[in-house]
Amino acid sequence: MRTLRALACALLMLPLVPLPARADGPGSASDTTPTQLRIAFGEDPRHTMRVVWQTRTAVDAPVVEYGAGGKLSVRIPARRVSYPYETGAIWEATLTALQPGMVYGYRVGDPVGGFSEAASFRTAPDKPEDFTFTAFGDQGSTPAARQNMTNVLNDAPAFHLLVGDLSYANGVHSRWDDYLKLNEPLTRGVPFMAVPGNHENEKLLVTKQPIGYAAYLARYALPGEESYYVFDYGAARFVGVDTVNLRQREQQEWLEETLADARRDRRVKWLIVFQHYPLYGSTRGRGDNGDLIKMQQPLFDRYKVDLVICGHDHVYERQYPMRGGKAVSPSLTDYTQGIGTLYVIVGGGGISLYDFAPRKPVDCAIRERTYCRLRVRVPVEGPLVAEALRLDGSLIEKFEIRPVR
Ligand SMILES: [Fe+2]
Repeated sequence: MRTLRALACALLMLPLVPLPARADGPGSASDTTPTQLRIAFGEDPRHTMRVVWQTRTAVDAPVVEYGAGGKLSVRIPARRVSYPYETGAIWEATLTALQPGMVYGYRVGDPVGGFSEAASFRTAPDKPEDFTFTAFGDQGSTPAARQNMTNVLNDAPAFHLLVGDLSYANGVHSRWDDYLKLNEPLTRGVPFMAVPGNHENEKLLVTKQPIGYAAYLARYALPGEESYYVFDYGAARFVGVDTVNLRQREQQEWLEETLADARRDRRVKWLIVFQHYPLYGSTRGRGDNGDLIKMQQPLFDRYKVDLVICGHDHVYERQYPMRGGKAVSPSLTDYTQGIGTLYVIVGGGGISLYDFAPRKPVDCAIRERTYCRLRVRVPVEGPLVAEALRLDGSLIEKFEIRPVR
């Protein structure tokens, strides 16, 4: 009894120290800490950058602070983007009037709620320069997905193309948070240029109510229609296609006009399409996509698209250059621009792997059941060099396209 009384007295004599706020509880500082930072080019990658982030609870004055030369001298407000199944408050801002080829530092947040750590990005150059970009699709939040993201980060590309099937949230919206957090080390500094796949066309888990691209459109800020768009980097034009909705006449007309315009523009040396569904493939139970071939192959032939990067089949697979639905070169490594279009599937982003049908089609140059990324070097002079890499960094293949323009 005496011991208990002594303990009670000792407790009463302890100085009053406020308890630390719960790290993740309601009302704690972390409720307003920015997470899931991601950037993407706006319509003109030389002058605009889009920034998106999330907080658990809303803040009063969301802003982006940014500037060149190590100073965050400009502050602009962000706007809240909402969708009915959001898991927090999503904030979006567009940085405009940026200088080409310039490194900018930035941070996001709220003067009361707190800021993110500073990050940086580089705008596209005004004049053509050598650059590298990377691509994969079908990523998810698996250990392989994380390793692939880290590999891309180490490549330090000018930007990354995500060719559809991103989070595999499949109607569970907290999975978007897991995915966007997993990718944050990459997406806070490397523009993440996504197009939607069939898994972005979501249904709610329990009721199966379709919600379309609601999460994708709210959680990313991309150029143009956001599900399909075009942007230039140096002497290359990149055309992102929404193959899930390609039947929509509006997009079909846009695609034809965009490709025709690229070929009228003398500044465009390389024309690269990126999209989710592949035209040609040989995974078990899938094979070629006849509808897509009918819709796209004549266009890609007519406008001499150099490279088409796809996902959807969870493998690496590439055709020989194709023209009129047939392979036009027997080489495995060296091509001349304009003889045919190179179709690449780089769907080994991380979620899972598919098996191939036993027989390799004659027009297929190479195929491998492996997690992978594509790394493409686009020089001002000389050939475009594409390398397909496994998760351990080893080379699946390397091919070159010699320019004629
Ligand atoms: Fe898919």
